[in-house]
Amino acid sequence: MSKNSANKMWGGRFSEKPSDIMEQINASIDVDVRLWPHDIAGSKAHCEMLVKQKIISKDDGAAILKCLDQIAGEIESGQFEFKRSLEDIHMNIESRLREIIGDVAGKLHTARSRNDQVATDFRLWCRDAINELIAKIEALQGTLEGLSNTHKDAVMPGFTHLQPAQPVTLGLHLDTYNQMLARDKSRLEDCTIRLNQCPLGAAAMAGTPFPIDRKMTAEALGFDNPIPNTMDAVSDRDFVAELLFCCSLSGIHLSRLAEEIIIWATPQFSYITLSDQWSTGSSIMPQKKNPDAAELVRGKTGRLNGNLVQALTMLKGLPLTYNKDLQEDKEFVFDSVDTLSLCLEAMEGMLSSATFNTARMLETAEDGYTTATALADWLVMNLDMPFRDAHHTTGAIVKLAEDKGCKLDELELADMQAVEAKITDAVYSVLSVKNAVNR
Ligand code: ARG
Repeated sequence: MSKNSANKMWGGRFSEKPSDIMEQINASIDVDVRLWPHDIAGSKAHCEMLVKQKIISKDDGAAILKCLDQIAGEIESGQFEFKRSLEDIHMNIESRLREIIGDVAGKLHTARSRNDQVATDFRLWCRDAINELIAKIEALQGTLEGLSNTHKDAVMPGFTHLQPAQPVTLGLHLDTYNQMLARDKSRLEDCTIRLNQCPLGAAAMAGTPFPIDRKMTAEALGFDNPIPNTMDAVSDRDFVAELLFCCSLSGIHLSRLAEEIIIWATPQFSYITLSDQWSTGSSIMPQKKNPDAAELVRGKTGRLNGNLVQALTMLKGLPLTYNKDLQEDKEFVFDSVDTLSLCLEAMEGMLSSATFNTARMLETAEDGYTTATALADWLVMNLDMPFRDAHHTTGAIVKLAEDKGCKLDELELADMQAVEAKITDAVYSVLSVKNAVNR
């Protein structure tokens, strides 16, 4: 035990304790407390390896392992007292170990540094988080798939520039978001490939002279293999940047969907009615029903992008290998994972309880001359017109309908023939939105 009041884990050469502000800027326990299950798992795997390699004795190893389980129980039941003065989750747990079993506890850190320890814990945390995010993506995909099937024949206007463009189906529209989510999922899976590598054994950064077995710890923790370059093992945070980007892009997809919900829920569009559970009222305007959840999903995308930029900026100037700047990474990732997780759940809840007003969609698909492209294509196919000319002719016919205040399929054949004499009444087969969609 050190005789002074300096830190017991690293304070051997220190005679004074850190200033309060130093302690405040240095402590990460408020954030990295969430790593505790992974820290315990990492320590157990390391301890078992130390025993097997005869670096520590069986008895010492058994005492440490038993105590780590006890500590896990204490944390789980809320009895554990976390101390800021002990900086982070690693030292809080190790200090408790020493409180319970005495100096033997100090043997656990043989052939290990907090640098490879934290990188290991965090990779484990991210791996779990990715699996949870994927499950939530799949739940949302399931809902979207169900809705796409239900509405596979429901005609609506497809938009470009938010102007009615061509008739499509609600099924196709919703499936587009499903495609984005499928890519989000595959991106997360891909991220796991590079993430699932074990830093343990790198120690501070240059490895360790103890006869450790890196394969054993990697395997015990479900990693694919140990990271070969020990300097890379402690300094690499690509997995952080990649995961944050995955969250960001997935959040952007949800934000686009949220924006559609917001537009569709306006009385002007009336394409969707959100359930009361997923709407809020106004304290002053009694008629209002606001799509707040969708707006928040859209708004929270800012946090996701912000976290990504913060992490990239934090990393950009770091020399090899470990630098304390890296301690900041947990906060960004925890926040992005929590935020995306919540947004995925909110989207699922909102969509599965919403009503799609397909009659209104069909009605508006018929407005706005959305079959004009189908008409131009008909002119090309049946009258052998060059597309540019067909486009021009169709424009004149649209103008005519506009002047008459009618839809394209309500024009008389004679009216269309006044623009292009060779048009026959077979043209009506493409002028209705249903036919245009089928084609
Ligand atoms: N709390 C630290 C972090 O999250 C643990 C690693 C500390 N390493 C060190 N050399 N001070 O990054």
